[in-house]
Amino acid sequence: MGLILCIVGGGHGLTQKTHCKPILNDDVPYDPRPLLSFFEITSSHSIPVALCGADHYKTRLPETGRFICFDKSCGGGAASNFCDAEFIWTNRKNARSIFRWVWQGCVRQGATGNRLHVSEKPVELMAWLFEHCRVKLGSNVLDPYAGSGTTGVACLRTGRRFIGMELCPDNFEIACKRIEEEWARLNP
Ligand SMILES: C[S@@+](CC[C@H](N)C(=O)[O-])C[C@H]1O[C@@H](n2cnc3c(N)ncnc32)[C@H](O)[C@@H]1O
Repeated sequence: MGLILCIVGGGHGLTQKTHCKPILNDDVPYDPRPLLSFFEITSSHSIPVALCGADHYKTRLPETGRFICFDKSCGGGAASNFCDAEFIWTNRKNARSIFRWVWQGCVRQGATGNRLHVSEKPVELMAWLFEHCRVKLGSNVLDPYAGSGTTGVACLRTGRRFIGMELCPDNFEIACKRIEEEWARLNP
């Protein structure tokens, strides 16, 4: 079986309380345990896993593993209303790390075009996670909460295979279109 990286949302319900289009299931406390037990994620010898928004369900994560800090403000946080950081859990026993990339509201380092999803991640973060979590080139990457398909785009750019799942039909369409456009761009 190929190596798998799972990326999920926070399950904290914040988008239900904003003017943004709410994320499905964001108001349900997320429990990663069924997913982790299905793949028998227990140690650093298991399939590499990275779970985004992990501080929102930290009590339901295995005691082993490490947190990665995604620093979204790169030092500019105190003056802004946006979240400065997000925490990602991994079963890889690397040193605790920080990924710094400005990503707050419409200020998005390296991004072109409109925001596609209220919780869209930078492609660069996903590509960095593949390396950091030692997801091998050519391996399968699973994102069961694919949103706008960022993980799929990162797979295409970095030479991994992608399996995505997405409950919201609108997001699913956005993800498919985005991945197809990236494929066409890379294979003119
Ligand atoms: C945090 S967002 C992912 C954002 C994504 N990383 C991106 O860059 O666009 C989580 C997604 O999971 C979807 N979702 C929620 N519950 C789901 C379920 N049971 N199965 C599949 N997708 C689900 C939501 O519709 C939402 O788009």
